[in-house]
Parts: sequence; structure tokens; C-alpha cells
Amino acid sequence: MCGIVGYVGPRPARDIIVPGLERLEYRGYDSAGIAVLEGDHIVTERRAGRIEALKGALNGRFTDATTGIGHTRWATHGPPTERNAHPHLGGKGEVAVVHNGIIENHASLRAELVAEGFEFRSDTDTEVLAHLVAALDDRPLAEAVREVMRRAEGALAVAVMRTDEPGVIVAARRGSPLVLGVGDGEAFVASDMPAILEHTREMVVVDDDCVAIVTADGVIVTDLDGAVVDAPSRTVDWDLEAAEKGGFDDFMLKEIHEQPTAIRDTLRGRLDPAGRVVLDELPLGGRAARSFDKVFVVACGTSYHAAMMAKYAIERWTRLPVEIDIASEFRYRDPVLDEHTLVVGISQSGETADTLAATRYAKAQGAFVVAVTNVVDSSIARDADAVLYTRSGPEIGVAATKTFIAQLVVLQLLALFLAQERGSISAGRIVGLVEAIDKLPGQVEEILGRANEFEALAEKWQDVNDFFFLGRGVSCATAAEGALKLKEISYARAEYYPAGEMKHGPIALIDDEVVVVGVIPQGDLHAKALANMEEMRARDASTLLVLTDGDTEGQELADHSILLPRTEELLSPVLGVVPLQLLSYWIAKGRGLDVDKPRNLAKTVTVE
Ligand code: AGP
Repeated sequence: MCGIVGYVGPRPARDIIVPGLERLEYRGYDSAGIAVLEGDHIVTERRAGRIEALKGALNGRFTDATTGIGHTRWATHGPPTERNAHPHLGGKGEVAVVHNGIIENHASLRAELVAEGFEFRSDTDTEVLAHLVAALDDRPLAEAVREVMRRAEGALAVAVMRTDEPGVIVAARRGSPLVLGVGDGEAFVASDMPAILEHTREMVVVDDDCVAIVTADGVIVTDLDGAVVDAPSRTVDWDLEAAEKGGFDDFMLKEIHEQPTAIRDTLRGRLDPAGRVVLDELPLGGRAARSFDKVFVVACGTSYHAAMMAKYAIERWTRLPVEIDIASEFRYRDPVLDEHTLVVGISQSGETADTLAATRYAKAQGAFVVAVTNVVDSSIARDADAVLYTRSGPEIGVAATKTFIAQLVVLQLLALFLAQERGSISAGRIVGLVEAIDKLPGQVEEILGRANEFEALAEKWQDVNDFFFLGRGVSCATAAEGALKLKEISYARAEYYPAGEMKHGPIALIDDEVVVVGVIPQGDLHAKALANMEEMRARDASTLLVLTDGDTEGQELADHSILLPRTEELLSPVLGVVPLQLLSYWIAKGRGLDVDKPRNLAKTVTVE
């Protein structure tokens, strides 16, 4: 995610853009920049780091320009440096573009533009858009942007200026959010309402594949053919804080609901139409993938639960032995590593001290280290031999939600990619699995559409302080994550156990004060897991079962049940975790707790 702000009107554009970017820092904050139209040329100022750095660099300049665009970045292509900060200029500097999204065909477009003599000055996919607009200088800016929208594939929300059309910003979107603000003799463009809410409450939400012409006189919205489309403004009565949370009460709830987008963005460009997995960022094609004879996955907390799922997927699809380790334990047990070992380090922040130490140790032992992280150029990304980025955008809530689900998806892609390159499963099977993965965002959306079902359930257990989360097989990962979510935001006692392990001691704790959550999707271990739940009910536990649609047998065993869409068994944690996140959220809210900032916790644990 990134933040875009644009302004056209009588006031200095920087006075609207810079504060607007500060209000969008929850969308990204690794670099920022602004471009304004001064007379007949565009001037820009960009800085790596937070917007404070940009403000310092501006130092009172740009006070006369009244048309401008700005950007705060969450890097997806190219490290978060000044060179890669937006806005990006096209041609000889006559075009400026800011962009939020991912251009999937940026490499081919870049090659075409280089062949036409355009000189690239950054590592970003965005710069392609700027030069494409510059190459279309024989058309009105709006038509040039429409043509770019037709040629660029992927998610994009853009705002564009060109020196030959002063007082005009052209904005467009596909898959990334974009909103227009209409004021009195001025108009605004933004990724999200908080950026412009103090200036106007008249908002126009731009639909996909629409192009907006923004001037001080107002906004005109067209489709990609240039036909004007109806784009009524609506008056927004949110306060600023509500707007930053997208109308949700907390960032955690907003981020739970952002999970379909996080999955889509993480998948973008990584599944080809032929049903193969495409991970160009990994130098592990062919022989390299076949050179491994063992895999370790190391992580902490929620990321370790993603590792639990990865173990099943990588072993099942590649037939490579996989060991998973809590990162803080890994290097002290003298693990057996060599140049034939693949070590995957998972860390959404990329800064967790224990995981950094584990991956550095592995690298020193000669292993090939792949980092899975949500932060471009984070420490783990810089340390690793290769990086697989999730693309969730910044996660503000301390409790990991959308970054976890994106980790699950990207680890599935890693497992399938290795299997594809090692030839350990058939191409047909890979196609089937890729199809199932492609359905996940829609299935998560369907579950989120029932979110109030989980709120009602949570009310029953507001005062319960004894929970067990049980699973078998890959559902152990889901159960473990559900227990951690409830623990860390509601402070309830919530233990995870493999369901088959309860009879070896923990069952002594089961009585009518205990709620047992069983994660039991359809699969090879379904019957055994249900039998374990019988043992719980026989000892008067209340039971909540997370089941697959149509599982009437499981429902008969449940005091309460949640039915989820059917998917591949090894993908089931992606769906199963969603109701558990919501259940934890509502129990914690019912207790009046701060779910975004739970006690004793930090978003990133940079100490060992
Ligand atoms: C998860 O909700 C917690 N915030 C915590 O367990 C977290 O997952 C852990 O500290 C690892 O963080 P990382 O993914 O940034 O390495």
C-alpha cells in the first residue's frame, strides 16, 4: 500500500499535500515525495524515510505552486531509497506520476520504452507509467492516461501531471483505492479520505477502470473509452480517526478486512495463466531447487505458526524433509546445516532479533537463506540470499492478521514452486492447487461477510478464561494461531494442543468451565479429530468447531459451529484463521481492551 495526495486550486499545493501525506503514513512510510507545477516546469522533492525528512528538505520552498501531487511509499519494487521515491518523472521531466499498486507487466513495458530511447532513473515499476504518458505527448493528458490504463496490467491508482496542461491532474484506478474531494474552487485526489477530510467532506469514490480529470472547477470522470460516467459526490461525516481506520473501530479490524486484498496483492504476478507458479525473485529454478536435500523454517510468534503450515506444504509437495524451529532456540541446538540446506526465515517486520540471529547463523553455516517478509529492504531481506515479499501493506495493529494470511499464501507458492522445479508433483496437480489458491481471496471475503456471526458468539464467552484450541495435521497451525490471537489481545488463558495429545495429560484440565475450539476441516484426519472432540464434550467442555460447509457430523458434536468454504486441506489455515481472528477481536472488545495496542507487547521485538 502507498499513499497518494493531489491538489489543484488557489492555495499552495504543498500546504495540502504534505499534511495529507502525514495522514496516510499508515499506508506506507519508507519514503515520500512531492511534485508541483512551477510555471511551465515540474519541480520535485523526494526523501527516503518518513515524511519528516521530506518536510525538512522542502524547507519553505514550493510556496507559489498551486498544482501538485505527492506520495508516501510502502516499497514493493525497488528498495526504499530517494532514487525510488515517488513522484517519478517521465520523458525529459514534463510528466510526473505517483502510483499505488503493482504493475505486473512493468518489465516488458520498460524494455519497450528503453528501446524507444527513454532513460530510466529508478528501480520501480511506477516509472514505466511516467514514460508511457510522456510517449503519448500527442494526446490530451486524459487520453494518454486512458491509453496507459489499457496497457498496464495489475493494480494501480495513479495521479499524473504534465507541463503542457497546467492546473490539471488526471487520476485513474484499477484495484487500488482512489477518492476525489470537491471543494470551493479547488479539488483533491487521495488514496484515502483522511488525507483531505479537513478540506472537504464532498467525496467522489472513483470506480475501477475510470479516469478523472481534476481541476479547480471540479472533477469529470470518464471510462477508458472517454465516455463521461456518473460519479456523484457523497458527504462524509467521519471524523479523522474514523477515516484513518476506514470506518472500522480499530486498525486490527480494518486489517482483518483487508486480508482479501493482501492475498490478491501477494499473489499478483506470481500465478501464470497456464497455472504455474512464477517466483522470478527466487534464483531457485531447475537445478538450484533440486540441489536441496533438507529444509528448515525458522520464525517467532505468529510467523512460527505460518512455519507450521509451511512444513506440511513443503514436505507434501516436494518430499523434502522439513524441520521448523522457534527462532530463539534454533542456533543453540547445533542444527545440521550445509550447502544443500534451504533455510526459510519468516518475519513480517523483518527486524525480529531472534529470527535475524537464526538466519544469520544459518547463512554462516553455508545454508541458502530465503526471507519471507512484508518490509522491503528490511534487515532480514538484506541478510538473505533471496526474498519473497508478502504485500500486505503496513500492519498497524500489534496482533498480526493480514501479514499472517499473506505469509501462508506466499509459503504455499514457495512449496509449489520448489515442487514444480523439482518435478515432484504433476503439472496437472499444480494447476489444481493454483486454482484453489486463486479462489482464496473470494472465499475469505465470503467469511468476512458473516463477521457479525462471530461477534454474537464472542458475547457468550466474554467471561470465560479457559480456552483450548485443538487441531490435527495442518490445522495445528490454525489452532495455534487462534490461541495466540486470543491470548495476546484478550489476555484470556488460551492453550493450543494437537488434538491427539490431549489424552496424554492436558485433558485433566477439561471441565464445564472450559471452551474448546476445534479446527476440523474436511480431510484425512477429520474423523480422528471429531473423536478427540467427543472426549472434550464427555468432560463437559463447551465446544466450538470450525468445520467445512456440509459437515453435519461435526455440527452434531458442536455446541457452536462455524462452517467454512471447502478448499484444499493444506490451504485450510488461510480460511480457518479468519473466524478465530474475529472471535478474538470481539472477545477482547467485549472486555473493553485496546486491541491495537495490547499490554506488554510491541509490534516488532528487536531484542533477543
Ligand atoms: C503476533 O500477533 C505477534 N505480534 C508476534 O507473535 C509476532 O508474530 C512475532 O513477534 C514475530 O514478528 P515478525 O513476524 O515481525 O518476526
